[in-house]
Amino acid sequence: MADEGSFEEIGMFVERRAAEFGMDLRRAPGDGVVTGFGTVNGRPAYIYAKDFTVFGGSLSEAHAQKITKLQDMALANRAPVIGLFDSGGARIQEGVAALAGYGEVFERNVLASGVVPQISLIMGPCAGGDVYSPALTDFIFMVKDTSYMFVTGPDVVRTVTNENVSAEELGGASIHTVKSAIADGAYENDIEALLQLRRLLDFLPLSNVSGVPEWPSFDDPLRAEPSLDSLAPEDPAKPYDIKELIAKIVDEADFFEIQAAFAENIVVGFGRLEGRTVGLVANQPLVLAGTLDCDASRKAARFVRFCDCFNIPVVTFVDVPGFLPGAAQEYGGLIKHGAKLLYAYGEATVPKVTVVTRKAYGGAYDVMSSKHLRADVNLAWPGAQIAVMGAKGAVEIIFRAEADDREKIAARTREYEEQVLSPFVAAERGYIDGIILPRETRPRIIRALRMLQGKRIENPWKKHGNIPL
Ligand code: HXC
Repeated sequence: MADEGSFEEIGMFVERRAAEFGMDLRRAPGDGVVTGFGTVNGRPAYIYAKDFTVFGGSLSEAHAQKITKLQDMALANRAPVIGLFDSGGARIQEGVAALAGYGEVFERNVLASGVVPQISLIMGPCAGGDVYSPALTDFIFMVKDTSYMFVTGPDVVRTVTNENVSAEELGGASIHTVKSAIADGAYENDIEALLQLRRLLDFLPLSNVSGVPEWPSFDDPLRAEPSLDSLAPEDPAKPYDIKELIAKIVDEADFFEIQAAFAENIVVGFGRLEGRTVGLVANQPLVLAGTLDCDASRKAARFVRFCDCFNIPVVTFVDVPGFLPGAAQEYGGLIKHGAKLLYAYGEATVPKVTVVTRKAYGGAYDVMSSKHLRADVNLAWPGAQIAVMGAKGAVEIIFRAEADDREKIAARTREYEEQVLSPFVAAERGYIDGIILPRETRPRIIRALRMLQGKRIENPWKKHGNIPL
């Protein structure tokens, strides 16, 4: 994980204190966790790794104290904490001392949240507190086929509920990156996972006061991308891949996607512009026409909040026909989940640049980093359509009496497109700051972000807000 030769281990002689159940006969220096600090591509990081070969990597009182010491150091020195997990949870022989140890770790996870990035990599079977502590961190990654996360393992599940499930079915990467969204990504093997974690860290600030990292970039900030002029088909019903836009906008096409396999109707992740990190959020017309549903809303909300915590500017690409209608969505809490995204954008004080590439309909227009949620620079491509709904649906409702007259309906549709949908209507009111050629998107965002580098706005004082969880 750390740069070669940079890792300094601390606490290697720490031993467990419990003597019950024959523990006094088993010596294990380090007590099942390696803790220390080092650098990742030259930047500091505090790292701990569970050792499954020692009491299943389980957490004892002493083991917990090693971790909390490291968490305290990371917080005091404002640098990320990385945990590598492979552990059976609380050390069963230690009882409440182990539970107390977890409580101390959890509390520090909470206090460090939003101050230093915390990242968890799940590298083996993990249960109990060793899934709850990762759950309090910013990102969780897993290794495919060899790592599992569950509160209670398959044996306990069988005893209590009579369900026969394998470890993979209960908590493998295939579940947590696709269904539960507990994990943010999964990799083929340990080495790839560690390398990708290093790549992610290169995007992240060291803390909430450090500012984003700056890496040398050889990508021309003024680079125009003529192929973007034909990316979004004129027919609003035809999809295109929004990831193509992202790849063509960010430096060297380097995009680190978060939760790629979950709620694919929205794409979130990190890229760089002029060598500085930005968070990207984009509706994906290829999946569910890019609608916002429960999953997409909470995925993007969490991402926007992460960016806001760590002062990472947010760039949003909008092509959204609205919220996904249906009983399943309403029963699933669409109102509350949609409100999460609204809240996240509304409270964010980081620089926010928004580009409407095509549709921005209904409440989803407001939600997706609109001017009304204090976005700083809102741009639109010439083919953008901004309104309560698309022309066809609108004409069907307001000219219902003329529904049988196809010619009249066609004329009304054209009228609606020109008078209501056109991005110039929003631009006249100042809700859109500029209509830009798609090919100019990268330089226009870069220029906006340059001007926003000194942005400082403050929300009204409060203890903390009450995001609709
Ligand atoms: C002590 C443990 C242990 C534990 C595993 N071991 N978990 N020792 N405390 N929690 C030991 C085993 O006894 C065994 O020791 C060795 O580690 C390897 O374990 P195996 O079971 O052989 O490995 P495997 O088959 O891979 O199964 C891994 C596992 C399973 C799925 C994690 O060990 C398991 O279910 N463990 C218990 C999980 C659990 O219920 N933990 C408590 C959660 S409560 P030997 O000597 O035989 O090699 C909790 C509270 C936190 O964490 C509060 C949360 C809010």
